[in-house]
Amino acid sequence: SFPDQVTIVEMGPRDGLQNERGVLSVETRISLIDRLAACGLSRVESGAFVSPKWVPQMAGSAEVLAGIRKPKGVRFPVLVPNLKGLEQALEAGAEEIAVFGAASESFSQRNINCSVAESMDRFAGVLTAARSHGLRVRGYVSCVLGCPYDGEVAPEAVAEMAGALYDLGCYEISLGDTIGVGTPLRAAKMVDVVAKRVPVEALAAHFHDTYGQALANLYAVMQQGVSIIDSSVAGLGGCPYARGAAGNVATEDVLYLLQGLGIQTGVDLEALAQTGHWICQALGRQNQSRVGLAMADV
Ligand code: HMG
Ligand code: MG
Repeated sequence: SFPDQVTIVEMGPRDGLQNERGVLSVETRISLIDRLAACGLSRVESGAFVSPKWVPQMAGSAEVLAGIRKPKGVRFPVLVPNLKGLEQALEAGAEEIAVFGAASESFSQRNINCSVAESMDRFAGVLTAARSHGLRVRGYVSCVLGCPYDGEVAPEAVAEMAGALYDLGCYEISLGDTIGVGTPLRAAKMVDVVAKRVPVEALAAHFHDTYGQALANLYAVMQQGVSIIDSSVAGLGGCPYARGAAGNVATEDVLYLLQGLGIQTGVDLEALAQTGHWICQALGRQNQSRVGLAMADV
């Protein structure tokens, strides 16, 4: 059976924009986040305190956090790879951060320039410091259904990484199909194995839509109890260290699916679709949401 309620974690301003060719102004990024929050989204990932040499699109995340409206009840998490990032996030007034590791060795090296074991040491330090400041910390595991360099990834490796992050104190583990290669049976099997290590209520699905399977994969894992979904307005996004990977599944498409299933989200699909068109115009790119495109024709 399906969950009664699903929480959407909006990825557009972070995962979405980090892979766009154009670098948006701080003002436009602020405007995007304000609009997304106004659509009824309760969690909007808003930036990343990573090296601007590695990901120039996320430079200025402190200014972005300083400029957004922050309505009550809405959370604006940011990515933090190490203690230096944490320091900047704290200074910028972040209340929630996310650390990000991978279930595959090669991806860890390319993405954060260290091994999986080294990353766990770093995250341990970040978690201890973050929690002493009262921050909520989310954990990401990348490459849960395949790695662009190592190929297949065993569900057991995903469970191990997810479990280690959960043990460190991450309140939720987001399972990233970074390159969007998964299919429903494999996604379900992976969640099955991971849920033996981390409670399913603490698992989020973060599926990129490279092969067009993300909605089908979500349909599968929701039936196993996953009720937190990461998605990106207009399907923006990708990953700079996963060449050819498409954006996250589009938030509009997820909302339409959930509406059809009678699942509550509290998000206004109409307003979100408009935001999708607006940001695509600002970026000069095609809208990747089928629902967004269909609604624009009406
Ligand atoms: P490094 O080069 O190994 O770090 O990078 P370092 O400690 O040796 O420092 C080198 C330089 O970077 C120094 O500056 C540091 O000060 C600076 P320099 O002396 O050369 O001028 N530095 C920093 N600057 C700003 N913020 C920081 C920071 N740390 C060091 N936090 C590092 C290591 C992790 C920093 C780098 O590899 C990095 O920034 N990686 C980020 C990669 C990234 O953002 N990837 C995309 C997000 S993950 C993702 O999209 C996947 C996800 O969506 C889930 C999924 O889909 O699977 C979450
Ligand atoms: Mg991602």
